[in-house]
Amino acid sequence: MRCIADTAPGPRVAPSPSDRPAVTLRGLRPSDVPFVAAIVADALHEHYDPSLYLSLSAEWPEGFLVGADSHDVPVSFLLGVSQVEHEARILMFAVDRNRRMAGIGQLLMETFFERCKARGYRRVTLEVRVSNATAIRFYTRFQYSVVDLLRGYYSDGENGYQMARPLQ
Ligand SMILES: CC(C)(COP(=O)(O)OP(=O)(O)OC[C@H]1O[C@@H](n2cnc3c(N)ncnc32)[C@H](O)[C@@H]1OP(=O)(O)O)[C@@H](O)C(=O)NCCC(=O)NCCS
Repeated sequence: MRCIADTAPGPRVAPSPSDRPAVTLRGLRPSDVPFVAAIVADALHEHYDPSLYLSLSAEWPEGFLVGADSHDVPVSFLLGVSQVEHEARILMFAVDRNRRMAGIGQLLMETFFERCKARGYRRVTLEVRVSNATAIRFYTRFQYSVVDLLRGYYSDGENGYQMARPLQ
């Protein structure tokens, strides 16, 4: 499973207090899967078997955060798993391109940290394309730093960075 980032800059909607979306964070529901898959296809350029999302969320349901709009439609999500003792790993993280730059990513990330701390995790890791400057800047703002260069990590041959952040 690779966290594949959007390398093409898409159109952005400038945030303003009046159109800032009200997002409710909740867990994944089976009916969310088509919406989450659509965000993944657009933002991460990946197409996974729909059953993957529910199976990945089964072990740690609180690690799969869905940000839903006022109609309860998913517009963002963060999928975290734990494969190493005391650590969480972000497998996928994306916000609908029309909802970015409005603080939704921050809300997801900060809530995820709380979920990790509640489980006693000491570190969060993730992978990102070296070309994904937007995501790297975002992660750096949240005290992630590059811990490894993953040569040819992505299926198109692009290198990735592994980034990590300690949790106090
Ligand atoms: C990375 C990603 C999840 C961030 O989500 P987001 O909702 O745009 O994140 P935020 O709005 O919390 O923060 C983004 C930026 O907007 C700024 N911002 C947030 N609210 C703002 C507001 N009201 N006014 C102005 N700027 C604002 C933040 O300061 C931040 O600045 P930065 O670019 O210096 O980090 C999003 O860009 C995305 O989905 N990218 C495509 C998928 C991807 O690359 N995923 C990561 C794969 S590893």
